[in-house]
Amino acid sequence: MRYRHTRLKYPIIALLVLSGSPLGHLWAQESISQSTQPLVEKYRILQKNPLARNRAIMQGKQQAFLCAYCHGKDGNSTKPRFPSLASQNPVYLLEQFERFRAGVREDFTGVMQGLVENMPADDKVALAVYYANNPLTPITSSPLLAKKGKPLYEKYCKQCHGKNGQGTKGYARIAGQQTVYLLETLDLFKDDSRSNLRSRHSDIMTALSRLLTQEEALSITHYLTSLSVKPPSVGGNYATDMK
Ligand code: HEC
Ligand code: HEC
Repeated sequence: MRYRHTRLKYPIIALLVLSGSPLGHLWAQESISQSTQPLVEKYRILQKNPLARNRAIMQGKQQAFLCAYCHGKDGNSTKPRFPSLASQNPVYLLEQFERFRAGVREDFTGVMQGLVENMPADDKVALAVYYANNPLTPITSSPLLAKKGKPLYEKYCKQCHGKNGQGTKGYARIAGQQTVYLLETLDLFKDDSRSNLRSRHSDIMTALSRLLTQEEALSITHYLTSLSVKPPSVGGNYATDMK
């Protein structure tokens, strides 16, 4: 009985999500956890106060020296397996800090948890404001694969990650991201039985990544890498999206 339940879980989730059913959206709630809410609240307050916001950006910039080796200068990664943080959805960034802190997510270098474990809330918010505000440098991908990936993206991914992959609500910006990182991430979701330093669990993403063939996943990731990201508007779009 249990075996059967496990086998059917992901196809059912995929069906609910793709059909736009409200039940599918219940699963979509997994994007933001309870412990992230106070950080998002702090972020919202900053958005209303330009002076405090600018101070936070400066503070984030100073903190970011700890991150540049892996995530690149200003959060523009030049290492294929490391994600760019520039122009990332700040709400998503805050949620990831919480996940690394709680050990729900681990990175293969094993440093992320230690970095955020005892980090004061204000520093986390400052880093999120700083990175969200930085422009993302475009990187190249295969135009042929990108063309194949576009309709697949629109069919399977757009409803949560947004029309141009810019992210919505708590969902990640995946546009302009490193191709290798995206592909590896889809693979991590697909096989969610890993419990070593590469854990990444999401019912929705596991369900969806299992629908894709390797070639489809490759095309989607090239399409995503090819998308340019709009320069962040002052204040960012995400805090208003969150309402
Ligand atoms: C030694 C390398 C290293 C350093 C230093 C480092 N990170 Fe990371 N970080 C990683 C790796 C590797 C991942 C990707 C993990 C994975 O594959 O899921 C990651 C993922 C992240 C993510 C999730 C991004 C996403 O798109 O999901 C955030 C946010 C993040 N790091 C923030 C930071 C911040 C802020 C700092 C500095 C305080 C920092 N990192 C320093 C290696 C590092
Ligand atoms: C119903 C909503 C939903 C849909 C549709 C969806 N995603 Fe996601 N996606 C999520 C959620 C929620 C997360 C965060 C999961 C987590 O880390 O636990 C996520 C995370 C991701 C990440 C990790 C981002 C990062 O920076 O590490 C990638 C990559 C991604 N999705 C790609 C895709 C692709 C490609 C598709 C289409 C095949 C897709 N998603 C469709 C909800 C969705």
